[in-house]
Amino acid sequence: MKDIPLKCLFVSSEVAPYAKTGGLADVVGALPKKLKEQGIDARIVMPYYSSIEGKFFEHDEHFLTSYDVHLGWRIQGIGVYFDEQIVPTYFLKSDTYFSRPEFYGYEDDYERFAFFCKGVLELIKHIDFVPDVIHCNDWQTGPLCLLLKDQYSYDPLYADIKTVYTIHNMKYQGIFGKEALDVLELSSDYMSPDKIEYHGAVSYMKAGLIYSDKITTVSPTYAEEIKTFEYGCGLDRLLSEKLEYKIEGILNGIDYDIYNPKTDPNLYVNYTYRSLHKKKQNKALFQKEHGLLEKDCMVIGIVSRITDQKGFDLMKETIEHVWVMDKIMQMDVQLVVLGTGEKEYEDMFRHLAYKYRERTGVFLTFNESLAQKIYAVSDVFLMPSLFEPCGLGQLIAMRYGSVPIVRKTGGLKDTVIHYNMQTKTGTGFEFEECSGYWMYRKIEEAYWYYNERPEHFKQIQLNGMKKGFSWNDAAKVYINLYQGIVE
Ligand code: GLC
Repeated sequence: MKDIPLKCLFVSSEVAPYAKTGGLADVVGALPKKLKEQGIDARIVMPYYSSIEGKFFEHDEHFLTSYDVHLGWRIQGIGVYFDEQIVPTYFLKSDTYFSRPEFYGYEDDYERFAFFCKGVLELIKHIDFVPDVIHCNDWQTGPLCLLLKDQYSYDPLYADIKTVYTIHNMKYQGIFGKEALDVLELSSDYMSPDKIEYHGAVSYMKAGLIYSDKITTVSPTYAEEIKTFEYGCGLDRLLSEKLEYKIEGILNGIDYDIYNPKTDPNLYVNYTYRSLHKKKQNKALFQKEHGLLEKDCMVIGIVSRITDQKGFDLMKETIEHVWVMDKIMQMDVQLVVLGTGEKEYEDMFRHLAYKYRERTGVFLTFNESLAQKIYAVSDVFLMPSLFEPCGLGQLIAMRYGSVPIVRKTGGLKDTVIHYNMQTKTGTGFEFEECSGYWMYRKIEEAYWYYNERPEHFKQIQLNGMKKGFSWNDAAKVYINLYQGIVE
């Protein structure tokens, strides 16, 4: 370790608790905190979305500085706000780009995040903090790695800064038209396959992959999978042939201060692995509150972004002409679903809620507190993802004694171990093939344990609850990685 603490600046478009649509926010909300505890001077920079304003700190009192950012011929002002309640965090404010109802999905996203990347690099001139490492996350921050290397590193202030680029999801790559080159002030030379061209367009993800000093992804298995045609989303050859030397898979953790059934204020009744019977009280109270049949049957929980990634197509399949979901509901089970996303899957759940009124709770919204209740209430947690870079749901589920049923891919494969009745080891149920049939079979297996071998079911719950997926270990691995590139 250096005498002066290593300085690391996290750059992310989402950070919990401020702005969150998915797991990325949880990671950037948790990892810097842990790094700080382990002696790293970790800070965060994120957009100051209008939805944050006034919610977490007194806006006016936290103003730090302002400056201009050049995007080709455009000049845009930026205001910097600073808060250090959790981790020192810089919020970059621009009414033009970040005062909108959503974080993404706009025609000028290429410009909004080019602005963000440049804004972060310019920020370093205005604060008393020159990072050793800039840790970028997902496509929104890819161009920063390129700009630093090709435009800023000639300035001594930036010359020693290294970058780490973390892929949370290969599927979202930030692909834009050539107008992205203008705002990034890049010549057309960059439109070549060994730079940031991708099928005639500009790829922000490629800018991060190619120009960073180190690439990480959020589980060891996913780090291997992305080098294959099946999972590489068109970048597999680049990753396996050119960039393999700098890729590393580091498993995410979960924040044990937040996800702890012993202290979680969202639960009806708190419990630990020693008082697992109290988990049932949560179930009973939940059923009462939401008008479900009050019965101690196996509750299947789903807390997820409702997108195709998460394997909802498997639920639409049939087995011998019977719809998979009907087959599942023929068992003595209840289903509780929470999340928002694509309409076709939301409609599927609406239909189920109608058809099995007394046995399904469907909440098509995003509600953190309800989510934590569902982890506590459910006996099994279903996550049949087609691909899963890491996945946080299964980790939280295990912590709350809800047994994960997962497809064996990415981080799910790295964190869930199939139960073995002989050795009494394992934390859940896994299936490999992407099929509704196999998903159903595993639910059936869990159901059998739940009803016929309850002592084994409890063993699986305990095995999961005792597993440690805290951020402490992951933080140590990141520190090593940072030290490896700065020295
Ligand atoms: C993305 C991935 C998820 C991962 C999370 C945090 O949301 O889909 O698997 O856990 O990022 O890294």
